[in-house]
Amino acid sequence: MCGIVAAVSSRNIVPVLVEGLRRLEYRGYDSCGVALHQNGELRRARSTARVAELAANVAADRLEGGTGIAHTRWATHGAPVVHNAHPHFSHGPNTSPRHGQTSVDDAGEASGIAAAGRVGLVHNGIIENHDELRAELKAKGYAFVTQTDTEVIAHLVDHYYDGDLLEAVERALPRLRGAYAIAVFCRDEPHRVIGARHGSPLVLGVGGVAGANENFLASDAMALAGVTDQIVYLEEGDVADIQLGKYWVVHADAKGVFKGIDRPVRTVVAHTGAAELGPYRHYMQKEIFEQPRAIADTLDAVSGISPELFGDGAYRVFKGVEQVLILACGTSYYSGSVAKYWLEGIAKIPTAVEVASEYRYRDSVPNPKTLVVTISQSGETADTLAALKHARSLGMEHTLTICNVATSAMVRECAMACVTRAGVEIGVASTKAFTTQLVGLFLLTLSLAQAKGRLSDEGEAVHLKALRHLPVAVQSVLALEPQVIAWSEEFARKENALFLGRGMHYPVAMEGALKLKEISYIHAEAYPAGELKHGPLALVTAQMPVVAIAPNDALLEKLESNLHEVRARGGELFVFADAGTRIEPAEGVRVIRLPEHYGALSPILHVVPLQLLAYHTAVARGTDVDKPRNLAKSVTVE
Ligand code: M6R
Repeated sequence: MCGIVAAVSSRNIVPVLVEGLRRLEYRGYDSCGVALHQNGELRRARSTARVAELAANVAADRLEGGTGIAHTRWATHGAPVVHNAHPHFSHGPNTSPRHGQTSVDDAGEASGIAAAGRVGLVHNGIIENHDELRAELKAKGYAFVTQTDTEVIAHLVDHYYDGDLLEAVERALPRLRGAYAIAVFCRDEPHRVIGARHGSPLVLGVGGVAGANENFLASDAMALAGVTDQIVYLEEGDVADIQLGKYWVVHADAKGVFKGIDRPVRTVVAHTGAAELGPYRHYMQKEIFEQPRAIADTLDAVSGISPELFGDGAYRVFKGVEQVLILACGTSYYSGSVAKYWLEGIAKIPTAVEVASEYRYRDSVPNPKTLVVTISQSGETADTLAALKHARSLGMEHTLTICNVATSAMVRECAMACVTRAGVEIGVASTKAFTTQLVGLFLLTLSLAQAKGRLSDEGEAVHLKALRHLPVAVQSVLALEPQVIAWSEEFARKENALFLGRGMHYPVAMEGALKLKEISYIHAEAYPAGELKHGPLALVTAQMPVVAIAPNDALLEKLESNLHEVRARGGELFVFADAGTRIEPAEGVRVIRLPEHYGALSPILHVVPLQLLAYHTAVARGTDVDKPRNLAKSVTVE
């Protein structure tokens, strides 16, 4: 999703801006751009290709300067075409271009416009009242040359500009409804960039190369890795003013008056982003194979079960809570859905799992004795953050997150946390984040059970042993890859697939279907196997591959009956069984057998071949596995 990098420096900052965009590429984008203050003008280059091409354009156009803003755009309003790409410039009645020229690529789009480019701006988020602002600004003489919601902010800041950019931004912000992080600069103030955040992440990077007096803004600290590790996490409503060798942050008080505010500078060791691929063809494949290591790392600091694994004071909270409410999106929602079986089955705590984007807008019945658990790989998912805020506004103060990014908004917003140690996940399709989330959620289950007096010492020892053996068990499932590849060649020729599971393997089936659809573009649906005859059986023909997750658990017999129903209608079965499952290969029934049955933790093993199936099917179909169409890694808009 959109990414922002901006800088004020006394050296040519173009390489830093471009490298920052490259580090943000993993979030997903469909166009990118950079604008610099150069020779008294704002100049820009934009592209609908990759950042590498943008870099080539920047070099060809001899764009350079010490003050600049840069952006990767994931289109929400307006198609992903060059003229909608950020940075956007104001085209207003009050501005007159200096030296009688427009910015490098403005010539076409600015025709008929009196002036162009006093204010330049990049934006992450959505401005909900852009239609009414657009009408108002048009009436004032502003010309709109894009279909974006963002362009109104550039014009609005220009409209309020009277020699002080901070003041103009402070006046513009209360007019905006929606979510945003912005970085804005002005032709008339060559060494200044203003940033603001409301609902979308933005950090301030302090210092950099000695003597360059530089400061930065970025969507996350990773964009600045290698440049500065001195990071200020801006809070909701903060406005940052960065200049040569100085910066400050202001925040509006209850009367809407902006006043200076201290925000701590933290030393952040940010991941350097795109790790080496090594022997792997794609990051997704690499990340699938990293799971034994990721699980081991997540368990590394766990010497025993204790609520304090989630933070000081967790025991008291866990003892008092009556129910758990899990809020998450996508894959993280499915890990929460597995955890519901554990929390109710092992800890005996009533648990609800809600899609964050639904929960935040529906009437619900809050109970202050609820433990609100958010799950997020990125920790920046706008819907999950908003759902958390909503839960808090309903009086539910006990918050905990299972999150993969220690410095994320989610970890900062929640009172307690389990930071999984999957490492940076670059593939848009989440894999190692899912299995490590499950590990965190299992630890949470055991800790709650312990606080409630429902976990014996023997029980704790048995579960810990199983957890510790997980990396080895996952490794042996990964060894099944050649068998999965053989299946994937058949799947690559299909357009639909059905995934079936029962009990806690139903969410695993949903996760398998999501993986297949998002990277191979094959339509895939998941059902609890018992639901088959209530509708989806009508879809079953020889053309419909049916994937069944068939662990040797208490529901196996029931599942087998469901599979007979499929076979009787000519459906082709692809069964992921495990040790002890009686299902044997036969005509129309293919079986891959996982080496061990893993009891309560079985979902962590059974999801792995589904990830491999999706991956190899996508490779066989030639899709862009790590950056599937229309999707972003970090979904920071609603
Ligand atoms: O970063 P989060 O875990 O909050 O992201 C939630 C979803 O956007 C994410 O899991 C998405 O569904 C993935 N593309 C799934 O592979």
